[in-house]
Amino acid sequence: MSSSVPSPSAGPPAPVLELRALTRTHGSGIAEVHALRGIDLSVRAGELVAVMGPSGSGKSTLLTLAGGLDTATSGQVVIEGQDISALGPRGMAALRRRSVGYVFQDYNLIPALTAAENIALPRELDGVSVRKARKEAVAALEEMRLAEIADRFPDEMSGGQQQRVAIARALVGDRRLVLADEPTGALDSETGESVLALLRMRCDQGAAGVMVTHEPRYAAWADRVVFLRDGTIVDQTLSSGAESLLPAEGAR
Ligand SMILES: Nc1ncnc2c1ncn2[C@@H]1O[C@H](COP(=O)(O)OP(=O)(O)OP(=O)(O)O)[C@@H](O)[C@H]1O
Ligand SMILES: [Mg+2]
Repeated sequence: MSSSVPSPSAGPPAPVLELRALTRTHGSGIAEVHALRGIDLSVRAGELVAVMGPSGSGKSTLLTLAGGLDTATSGQVVIEGQDISALGPRGMAALRRRSVGYVFQDYNLIPALTAAENIALPRELDGVSVRKARKEAVAALEEMRLAEIADRFPDEMSGGQQQRVAIARALVGDRRLVLADEPTGALDSETGESVLALLRMRCDQGAAGVMVTHEPRYAAWADRVVFLRDGTIVDQTLSSGAESLLPAEGAR
């Protein structure tokens, strides 16, 4: 009897994201900057990985390469088994619209579009009807407790609201890989926790997530924490390790 449901003996699911010996160098000669120096990282469906490290250590570079927004100097980015350097420009655009949800460090909302339109845009570009895309966008805003700002433009929103709209945009549709660069940066801690809970839920439902954060409190939501320094992974811990990053009880 055949079944599409993998048997327990089938082993762990294949990685959604694999970075293999990934490097990124900017400039040349004395101006050469080694933003990443040989990163190996694999993230499976259901897994949320936090990336931590000092400013300039390569966190955003890692994320932009993983999302196909920048090109590696050497090494490979493999998404769902596909080396993305083999995709042409159309293939890359489709991948970014369909499979990868990206939250930028600076939100990157389109100023001329309302909150709901910003969220609906990638879906409409992907062929979803305007009505359905709008419905999804409103539902995503409700999840973020932002239903009331659906028709506001970015310059009519607070920083935290813009950030949550950017997160809603990254989560809408069936994104298999969610990449978030400090998604909690402009949020108060309660809203930050609720954003993390949502990201966690999305991963529990089968997405793979990579999130940059400076906050051990948020990293504790991840299954694994990867520490970057000078473009290299210097340490990895499991989430219980992330909790141990929190200040000791007496020190709080
Ligand atoms: N376009 C660029 N040209 C030259 N150097 C760059 C460029 N983009 C990034 N860099 C350099 O690459 C290194 C890694 O930058 P990156 O933005 O990935 O750091 P980060 O860990 O995200 O820092 P932060 O916590 O401040 O956001 C830094 O030294 C940065 O100056
Ligand atoms: Mg950064």
